Amino acid sequence: MMMHDNGKSVINPYLPRIHKVKRIKRETHDTFTIEISADGFKFMPGQFNMLYAFVGEVPISISSDPADGNVIMHTVRRVGHTTSALCSLKAGDSIGVRGPFGNPWPVREQEGNDIVVVAGGLGLAPLRPLIYHLLSNRGRYGRIYLLYGAKTPRDILYRNELARWRARFDVDVYVTVDKADERWHGNVGVVTSLIPRVHVDPLHSSAFVCGPEVMMRFTTRELINLGLNAERIFISMERNMKCALGICGHCQFGPEFICKDGPVLSYSRIARLLSIREV
Ligand SMILES: Cc1cc2nc3c(=O)[nH]c(=O)nc-3n(C[C@H](O)[C@H](O)[C@H](O)COP(=O)(O)OP(=O)(O)OC[C@H]3O[C@@H](n4cnc5c(N)ncnc54)[C@H](O)[C@@H]3O)c2cc1C
Ligand code: FES
Repeated sequence: MMMHDNGKSVINPYLPRIHKVKRIKRETHDTFTIEISADGFKFMPGQFNMLYAFVGEVPISISSDPADGNVIMHTVRRVGHTTSALCSLKAGDSIGVRGPFGNPWPVREQEGNDIVVVAGGLGLAPLRPLIYHLLSNRGRYGRIYLLYGAKTPRDILYRNELARWRARFDVDVYVTVDKADERWHGNVGVVTSLIPRVHVDPLHSSAFVCGPEVMMRFTTRELINLGLNAERIFISMERNMKCALGICGHCQFGPEFICKDGPVLSYSRIARLLSIREV
């Protein structure tokens, strides 16, 4: 639909575009991946959409392969009203989408560098498009590490893909859980406990980090201790959002509007704010 501005027709940025749900995949006990028809939609790794499930609208990262022209995926954890409605959608249902919004991971700018990807919990979702990009362009990067931490084994996302990535010889994948169960034989401990396994050239390395804020605070500290430059450590921030257009101010984080200046920001830009607990 259109609105008129000085006689010109412009697309109303508040109006969602309707897409069809193709498939809902259960990832864990509370998290689902919603696959929708792409219908020409293009995005870059790290961007998010505002998803409208006819009860409310919420920001959700795009979790699919940016090179896949057929489907767009969003991985949603059921925490409240709108995310519950999204997780209850069925194949064939309609869903409203506004986007893509936000700064992407600056992955092309890191070509030639070693890469460290650190994900905590659902933070793996916005990092998955970046991982697809790195693996599709494997020759353009040095060593690649993926460190992933989940609360328990039952919270691990994308199990099949993790197994496939792990089987490759050109990427080092380490997974840890905070709390094991009787069937878990892997690492136990927070994701920062995996950082000593990273052997990169710190002067020519870049890192991409996403997870709960406390995890990002500790991870960035460890990466700095490893010798990485704060300008080449990138994190993705979450704040409550309404417009996603840099207008309403809901997502303000210090001087930054996360919907417009983020969600991906360099650590050098927000180190001071991140060190303060509640901004
Ligand atoms: C840029 C961006 C990207 C995001 N990407 C994703 C994504 O890929 N997948 C995803 O599932 N979520 C993502 N989120 C978070 C998601 O937007 C919120 O979980 C959602 O807005 C909650 O809405 P609700 O109506 O379901 O919950 P509400 O009814 O608003 O809240 C219900 C309860 O859930 C709690 N809650 C609200 N937000 C969160 C949260 N983020 N984490 C834990 N508890 C919360 C509230 O404190 C409240 O207790 C993203 C947020 C941002 C800003
Ligand atoms: S959500 Fe409105 S300014 Fe960011």
